[in-house]
Amino acid sequence: MNDKISTAFEAQKHACDLLGSPLTRDVVGFCADNFAAGGIIAKLVRGWQGDPLNDNVPLRLAGFAHYRALTHDAALQGFYESCGGIYDAAKRADLAVALEQLFSREEAAARQFLRSTPQTNETGRAAMLLLGFSEITKRLGLPLRLREIGASAGLNLFFDRFRYRFATDEGDILWGDSRSKLTLDARWHGAPPALAEKIEVASRRGCDLFPVNISDADERLKLQSWVWGDMPLRRARLLAALNIADTAPPEIDRADAAGWVAAQIMQRPEEQATILYHSIVWPYLGVSQRFAIESAFAQAAENIRPDAPLVWLKMDGRELGTIAQLSYRIWTGENGPEGEEVIIGPCHPHGVDLEINAGFNPV
Ligand SMILES: C[S@@+](CC[C@H](N)C(=O)[O-])C[C@H]1O[C@@H](n2cnc3c(N)ncnc32)[C@H](O)[C@@H]1O
Repeated sequence: MNDKISTAFEAQKHACDLLGSPLTRDVVGFCADNFAAGGIIAKLVRGWQGDPLNDNVPLRLAGFAHYRALTHDAALQGFYESCGGIYDAAKRADLAVALEQLFSREEAAARQFLRSTPQTNETGRAAMLLLGFSEITKRLGLPLRLREIGASAGLNLFFDRFRYRFATDEGDILWGDSRSKLTLDARWHGAPPALAEKIEVASRRGCDLFPVNISDADERLKLQSWVWGDMPLRRARLLAALNIADTAPPEIDRADAAGWVAAQIMQRPEEQATILYHSIVWPYLGVSQRFAIESAFAQAAENIRPDAPLVWLKMDGRELGTIAQLSYRIWTGENGPEGEEVIIGPCHPHGVDLEINAGFNPV
């Protein structure tokens, strides 16, 4: 197990480098060194029950440090841009001292925080999902009944209230309300499809094993703590999206996706398109949960009427670390129980860019 924990630290350091977070890399680096030396981090995570890689143990530790900086730990704030500080590798030794003191002083609080799963509700992913929602709207011409699994705080359920700027080879494409508090920038490679002028949403609802209640001040801070402290753009996006969702806090059921999907898709209201969707959730589901969801779709697909169509939209990968892909399967009531699968293309897991497949035929 201890080898697995060390491997998880190394993998996370590498991922932080790739994703451009020197601060989180060095927080994780401190944890790795302290763990190897049998320090406070070893006391906290040695003998971890579960898979330290899948459970994101390094990110849980880094999340606690950021959470404490956000809750006014003066010794840490100077390292975190999110708290008005700034970090570079020359501060690595000072950071290690502050972290050692934090984890030693707050062992009980850290232990409790480690029980939380990382919850990065990444609104950047809406810039990928939008293309799916747009295609479905153009195709079906019905208001969308949005149902999201692994919705976290439910921020992407408000995708239609964000502003988008897509850089393409044929120039910029703009979509959404120009007065929105949140503008998402993304790049589309390949032939850009025309977006639906207007996307009507009939209702929004999500589920998560650990939903984040954005009306709770502490849960809100925890959500912020998972966004790495030297990524100001991601943080600004999160704060703006929270602001938008505050106007009508989303309804997120505390439920396992495996049972929730069937309850949402079997009975579908008329004159609405039911869309069950998810972004970066599939790798977290076990075989039996995936099977339950696939079975629910297979059952629902046996009885589709054209006035109550069903769509499964995914911005997801098969396993952790594999490439994400934007695709959807649509059952119109006229295309049989298999429906039709449309693969739009591979995309960045945070929604930075999308490679539109040459074979993708926009509606
Ligand atoms: C990487 S996060 C993605 C969150 C959100 N979809 C987004 O794109 O920002 C994965 C989410 O899936 C949730 N999750 C994992 N297993 C689940 C399950 N069996 N049922 C429901 N939610 C689950 C986690 O709690 C977490 O919020």
